[in-house]
Formats: sequence, C-alpha cells, structure tokens
Amino acid sequence: MPVTDPTPPTTQRRGADASHYEARYSARAAGAVSSVMRDLMALAERPGVITLAGGFPDTASFPREKYVEVQEVLAREYLAALLQYGPTEGLREMREAICMVMAQEGAHTDPDSVLVTTGGQQAIDLTMRTFVDPGDWILAEGPTYPGAVPSFTSAQARVRHVAMDADGMIIEALEEELDALHRAGTPPKLLYTIPTFQNPSGVTMSRERRERLVALAHERELLIVEDNPYGQVRFDGDPLPTLWQLDAGAGWVVYLSTFSKILSPGLRVGWAAAPPPIVRKLNLGKQAGDLCSSTTSQRFIVEYLRRFDYREHLAHLNGIYRRRRDAMFRALEEEFPAEATWSRPQGGLFLWATLPDYIDTGELAARALERHAVGFVPGAGAFCDGRGRNAMRLNFSGVTEEVISEGVARIGTAINEMMELQRMFGGGT
Ligand SMILES: Cc1ncc(COP(=O)(O)O)c(C=O)c1O
Repeated sequence: MPVTDPTPPTTQRRGADASHYEARYSARAAGAVSSVMRDLMALAERPGVITLAGGFPDTASFPREKYVEVQEVLAREYLAALLQYGPTEGLREMREAICMVMAQEGAHTDPDSVLVTTGGQQAIDLTMRTFVDPGDWILAEGPTYPGAVPSFTSAQARVRHVAMDADGMIIEALEEELDALHRAGTPPKLLYTIPTFQNPSGVTMSRERRERLVALAHERELLIVEDNPYGQVRFDGDPLPTLWQLDAGAGWVVYLSTFSKILSPGLRVGWAAAPPPIVRKLNLGKQAGDLCSSTTSQRFIVEYLRRFDYREHLAHLNGIYRRRRDAMFRALEEEFPAEATWSRPQGGLFLWATLPDYIDTGELAARALERHAVGFVPGAGAFCDGRGRNAMRLNFSGVTEEVISEGVARIGTAINEMMELQRMFGGGT
C-alpha cells in the first residue's frame, strides 16, 4: 500500500528561530548567496505569470515515442543496473558517448579524461572547489552566468570581471586584469568563460579572440575553464572551434558541458573533460558530493544515443528557438524604448538588453512581476561587483512566440512607467 501521510501527528517544530544557528555556520555558508535565477524560478510557478527568466529548453517537443522506446529497453534489459550505484567517474559507455558528442564540435578527447557530473552545474561547482581557496582571485566575463555566482561565492573566490563586446571577451582587458593581479602577487587561479552563446549575454567570442586567448593562456600559464552548454544550440552562422580544441592537448583548458540543452535538463547529466590529473581531483570532490550521478539517467542517455541521432531533435529545437528569438527581436523593436539596446545572438537561449542607466532593473523586475505578472533576470545577478543594474537577461527558448510578444510588451509597459516616473520626479531625461 502506498504511504500517504508522512507527517506524524505529534511533530513539534523545534529550534525554528534562525538566530540559534548563526554562530555555527561556516564562513562559506554564512556568505552564501542565492542565485537570482533560482529565486525567479519559483515565481514561474505562479499562475498567470509569464517568465522570460529561466533557461528552460523546450522539453514539450521531446519525441515521446523515442522516450517510451528507450524506457522499455531499459526496463527489459538493464533494470537492476540502472537502479544500482555506478562509478563516480560515470559509466564507461556514458563517457564514450560524451567523447562522441564533443567530437561533433571538433573537441576530441578520451573517456579517461571525462568525469560525468550531475548537470553542468556540478561540474562548475567541483571545479571551483578543486582550485579555489578562500580569498583566491578568479576571472570571469562581465556579465557571467548567474548560476555560477553561488559557486564562486561558496568557494569564497574573489572575482574580477573581464569586459566584453559583441565579439566576446576583450583580450586586452583580460591582459590588464592579469597584469594587475600578477603585480599584486595574487595571480588568478583560473578564468571561467562561456565562449559560445554566452549566458547571459548571448554573445560569441570571435575566432581571432579564441586563438589569442589560448595563446595567452599558454604564455601565462592561465587555466581556462571553458563552459560550453550551447555550442550546438546554433541557429545561424558557422561553428567556431572550442578553446579545448585550440589548446590541442597542452592542458590549459578544462572543458565543461551538459546534456541539459541538447537533450533534457531533467536528466541532470553533465560532464567535465580535463587532463587526467585534474579529473582525478574532481573525482575526489564528487565522491564527497554525491558518490555518482544518476545511473538511470546515464543509461537513458547511452541507450538514446545508441538508437537515435540526437542531432535530429536538436535541429528541430534549434528551428523552434530561431523563431522564438526572432519573435523576441520583433517585440523588443516594438515595445522597448528607443534608448534600449540588446545583443543579437545566433544561438543559445538568451539575449541581454541594456536600458537607460537611471533604470534599476532590480526595481523594474519587482514592478514587472507585481503589476504586470512578467519575470526576467535583472542584470546585477550576473556580476559579483554590483554592476549590471540597468541590464537584464531575457530568455526566448521556454515559451511560445505569442507568449514572448506578450511578455516583452508587459516589460515594455513597466519600463515606460519607470521612465515616466523619472520624467516627473527624477529631473533627468
Ligand atoms: C553557462 C551554463 N553553465 C552551466 C549550466 C548548468 O547546466 P545544467 O542544467 O546541466 O546543470 C547552465 C544552465 O543554464 C549554463 O547556462
């Protein structure tokens, strides 16, 4: 009989007062911040709210008959194994499949250089824990992935942001940051970068900058953490080489990715590819964290990839995302003020819009949600130094074109209200 009520009738809530625990928290936990993204995710649940905040792939279009076929095979042939623990580094077939997926982007590796992780997020977190001591400096694009910020904070890293433009990270700006940190005797432990369809900006690093970045890493012994969940989520333009490929086995790139955007985020399978000594250290961190990633999910992916060409479904998704991105471009042209600008991504799930600098997008987000039932990610969540206050990340993958138009219109109304207030009371433009 199924268990229905897990709450014993006499349960007492003890010690609920938060002050009881304050003095006990580790410095790491005391300084932990919530990802602005995760906070907003909760809001997406509210009825009537349009959310352009999350990074949701379109899971509704996943081919049901393929899902059923794979699950049937798994239940018939692998039941005991898929319900069992697996090796910390991941199933061998899973790591072989990951090598195949990476090879699609010209990034070649071998299974012993791969660690399967619980989503790409765990790969980021493990990397930070493995390399960063409290107070160490790291470098990241400005803006950076808002979901990486809690990993930076929990590793107690100090973060310097490297400026970007439409061609990605500006290499001269990186050199300046490196010089400053070296002069201070505190060289950065690593550079975290998302070169392709960056989250949150949607920007892609040009080929020339990729080459310069890897050359610089070799020259200065800079460890690059290349996070590449979106490389194959491309709708326009030609693929560019990964930093992993350009490093050509020199060992200065740790490559992170995930099945979340090319198959499904609910499976929670990602990976790190790195020189074997680093893989071994990451493995030790993972042993402490969760022993192993879901064998059920790994088996599902292995069997799915054995039977089907994942690129077919991905091509279908990319077609959907292209139309949604275009709908967002149109809506922004119509609904946002003339002073606003936004990036023009050729892939990925997001674009980055910048508003007049007197508009605080944190305030705007509160207004947009309360009065107009629409959510987006305020830009400050993508910086560790308080910048980004007049910017926002907008997601175009998770909802239909009609909903995108309506959502952008609602944000546009909220912006106009704030601009009107500024005209009335701000004495500015
Ligand atoms: C740049 C980047 N890295 C990592 C992740 C996390 O991926 P996963 O859902 O596989 O944990 C995301 C998710 O949005 C992302 O955008």
